Amino acid sequence: MNDSPVSGCQQQVVAIDGPVASGKTAVGRELARRLGWRLFDTGIMYRAATWQAQRRGVHLDEDESVADLIRESAFQLSPQSDSESVDLDVYVDGDNATPYLRKPEVESGVPTVAAIASVRALMVEIQQAQAAQGCMIVVGRDIGTVVLPDAPAKIFLDASEEVRARRRAAEQSSGADEASVLKATQRRDARDRSRTASPLIAAADAIRLDTSRLTLEQAVDAAEAIIRKRIPALASAQSDAVRQG
Ligand code: DC
Repeated sequence: MNDSPVSGCQQQVVAIDGPVASGKTAVGRELARRLGWRLFDTGIMYRAATWQAQRRGVHLDEDESVADLIRESAFQLSPQSDSESVDLDVYVDGDNATPYLRKPEVESGVPTVAAIASVRALMVEIQQAQAAQGCMIVVGRDIGTVVLPDAPAKIFLDASEEVRARRRAAEQSSGADEASVLKATQRRDARDRSRTASPLIAAADAIRLDTSRLTLEQAVDAAEAIIRKRIPALASAQSDAVRQG
């Protein structure tokens, strides 16, 4: 994978938003592989901010203290060293936060941090600078509406609550039952959609894609078709070359 921005890449960004377990990250990652691009899953920024507050002993409910800490912290994104990976690692004050981002304490704390407007403003700036490199699939909750309102292609992925809860339960190795995962999914949805700062909402010009009845491959095919229509510079020859290479 070439880490330097490819010429003409700057305009080539795709915004993918959607609720928890709608398939955003899996679809985004596969799309990035097909196109030879990078995946920027912006959830890692909010997770890294949460990890930073927790390791520095800042109480997550103290909005101003969390925002001050995040303002003083250095966040850096860098391509993962595994040459097969399209993902980015996130470093905070020089330390790779990636191994800690799925820990239960980060998982439970992140919605609180993601709801702090001044933290979001700082994160959005970093995300915009990163996305400016182009050739990037940018995944999150507010990408099409706030982070990249001018993105040439925006997709809002969705799936029924039941399907998303089933996917989530299957991901969790602990054998969590579907009914409790469904409740947790509904709670997280409600929090993401009702928060005052950048609630989860589809951009007016986003194409909605319901993945409830689609396999991952079908969802990626559908998303790729949307992108190719919206970004004419993506010649089909380029994709064939990437797939064969
Ligand atoms: O997608 P995820 O589960 O890694 O997201 C972690 C948290 O960050 C979740 O509470 C939603 C929030 N988030 C957000 O508010 N805006 C984004 N662009 C990405 C994630």
